[in-house]
Amino acid sequence: MKFFIDTADIEEIKEAMSWGALAGVTTNPSLYAKTGGKLADFEDHMVKIAEICEGLPVSAESTAKTTDAMVAEGEHLASLAPNIVVKLPVCAESLAATHALAEEGIKVNMTLVFSAPQALLAARAGARYVSPFVGRFDDIGDEGLDHLEEIVTCIHNYDFGHEVEIITASVRTPHHVTQAALMGADIATVPFGALKKCLKHPLTDQGLASFEADWKKVTGEK
Ligand code: G3P
Repeated sequence: MKFFIDTADIEEIKEAMSWGALAGVTTNPSLYAKTGGKLADFEDHMVKIAEICEGLPVSAESTAKTTDAMVAEGEHLASLAPNIVVKLPVCAESLAATHALAEEGIKVNMTLVFSAPQALLAARAGARYVSPFVGRFDDIGDEGLDHLEEIVTCIHNYDFGHEVEIITASVRTPHHVTQAALMGADIATVPFGALKKCLKHPLTDQGLASFEADWKKVTGEK
């Protein structure tokens, strides 16, 4: 499974990219708003992220409401950098826009996917990435991983005539990451905080502390 980072924060992206383990970035309007960014700077911000992650897919979300506007905004976003992927929320208008953009060779990441039928329709319309959300189900007392499993199985059952990768989104915990990988989800897009948690384990910390203590016996250092 590949790791993407789910953030629009430039410093977080730079730091996580320095690990050498990331394969892409996803952003959305809420994540951009969280950076304090303004509309006038949105495109430059996306270009900056695309430059930091040269060659890796960077999802920039359209906020257009009609098919024509989504296609126009999608074409524009895709023209900003070769690695920008157009992110669209699943609905009738965005399916039609995805179909049109895919015909032009523009990659679409279909987001806000909560069910297998939504995922299948997105893939059939030509989406290059389908993003099922996990954590938001958990937030309402449902089991997000069960829904993810259905979606992964349904998508992997079929050949859509083009590559379709599942981006596990709304990831909150290392457990989500582990389960997504066990299910065979292609990608997990993980916020920086959860990504750092993925790196930690109490036994790693404990092991490191004993190595350091034992090495002091070797070096004689107090
Ligand atoms: O990329 C969108 C998705 O990951 C958002 O997650 O935490 O807002 O549910 P969250």
